[in-house]
Amino acid sequence: MRPVDGPQGTHLEIDGRSVLSLCSNNYLGIANHPALAEAAARAAVDLGVGSGASRLISGSMRIHHDLEDRIAELKGTPRSLLFTSGYQANIGTIAALVGAGDEVFSDELNHASLIDGCRLSQASIRVYGHNNIDDLADQLSRRHGGRRLIVTDSIFSMDGDAAPLREITELAVRHDAMVMVDEAHATGVIGARGSGLVEELGLQDRVTVQMGTLGKALGGFGAYVAARSDVIDHLVNHARTFIFTTALPPPVAAAAIAALDLVAKEPERRQRLRSNATRLGHGLRAIGYSVPGSDSHILPVIVGEADETMQLSTKLLEHGVFAHGIRPPTVPPGTSRIRATVMATHSGNDIDAAIEAFRVARSAQ
Ligand SMILES: Cc1ncc(COP(=O)(O)O)c(C=O)c1O
Repeated sequence: MRPVDGPQGTHLEIDGRSVLSLCSNNYLGIANHPALAEAAARAAVDLGVGSGASRLISGSMRIHHDLEDRIAELKGTPRSLLFTSGYQANIGTIAALVGAGDEVFSDELNHASLIDGCRLSQASIRVYGHNNIDDLADQLSRRHGGRRLIVTDSIFSMDGDAAPLREITELAVRHDAMVMVDEAHATGVIGARGSGLVEELGLQDRVTVQMGTLGKALGGFGAYVAARSDVIDHLVNHARTFIFTTALPPPVAAAAIAALDLVAKEPERRQRLRSNATRLGHGLRAIGYSVPGSDSHILPVIVGEADETMQLSTKLLEHGVFAHGIRPPTVPPGTSRIRATVMATHSGNDIDAAIEAFRVARSAQ
C-alpha cells in the first residue's frame, strides 16, 4: 500500500513526487470534483456525518430514498436498494437469492465478491469457462432441481471485456434461471446515458438483478442493486449485508446524487474515456505489448510471470507512471499483468507520456 498524498486526480502525489495515475477506477475523474465535495460537505452540515442505525431501524434517511430513486431511473428498473459496498451487495444478494439445494452458475473470471457470494449461499456452484456460452448451456441443460442463478460481471474487472449478456439472458429464459449482472465497471461509463451494459442492450426485463458500485466511475463509495419491486422487497427482508449494517453516511449519499447529475449532464466524459482508451491501446500495441480485448477503459497489458510484472510496475513508477501489477490469485497463473485504466480527465499528452514510459521501462528491464 503506497500512501497517496493529496486528492485522487489524474496525477497522484507519492513519496513527494507527482506521478501519472494509470490504475484507478475513478474512470470519469470525478472523485475530487468540487460538485461532489460540496454536496458531501453540505449534507454533513445539514444532516450530519452518520446515519446512526441500519436502514430497517432508524437509519433510513430521505437522502437514501432519493438516491435509490435516481439509481432506479438510471438503470431502467422499478426500484433500487443501497448497500454499503459492492462486496457487501454481492455476497448479500447472492446468498438471498439462492441457498442449499439450489444452483449458481458463475463465470470463471468473476470478481472475488461474486465468488464469495456463491460460496456463502451454500448453493451448488457450477463454474463455466470465461464468456463460454456453449459451456454455460451445457451445464444449464443438466437439471438438478432447486432455483438457478447465473452470475457474471458485465465488464470484467481484470480484462475489460464484456459478457455476452444477450446470449446469457436467452439461455436463462430457456433454462428457467435468474440472472445477476455486476456492473461495477460499467456504471456511469457504458451506454449513451452511462447506465451500464444491461440498459444499453435493453435487457432490464431479462436481468433479475443489476448490481453496481458508487465507488468507481461515480467517484464516491457504496453500492446498489437495481431490480423489480418484488426482488427488492425480498432483499430488504433476506439480504443480511443490507439488514445487519449501518446505513450509508448522508455525505456519501449526497456525493452519489451529485455524481449522477454529472453523469447525466456531461456525456463528453464518457466519450473522452473511450478515446483515451483507444489511444492507449493502439500506442501500447504499436510498441510491442500484448493488450488483448477491445479497448474498454480497462486495458490488460499481459506480461505473464508475476515477478516480471512487478518489476515492470516498479520501472513504470520510476518513469513517472503509477500502474500496479496484478498477479495470482487475482488473475490466473501465467497471466500476470499491468491493469492499465484510463480516466476521462487524462489529456492526450498524459496518454502519450504513459506510452513512452512503457517503452522506456521495458527497454530498461
Ligand atoms: C466487479 C466488481 N464487483 C464488485 C466490487 C466490489 O465493489 P466495492 O469496492 O464497492 O466493494 C469490485 C471492486 O472492488 C469489482 O471490481
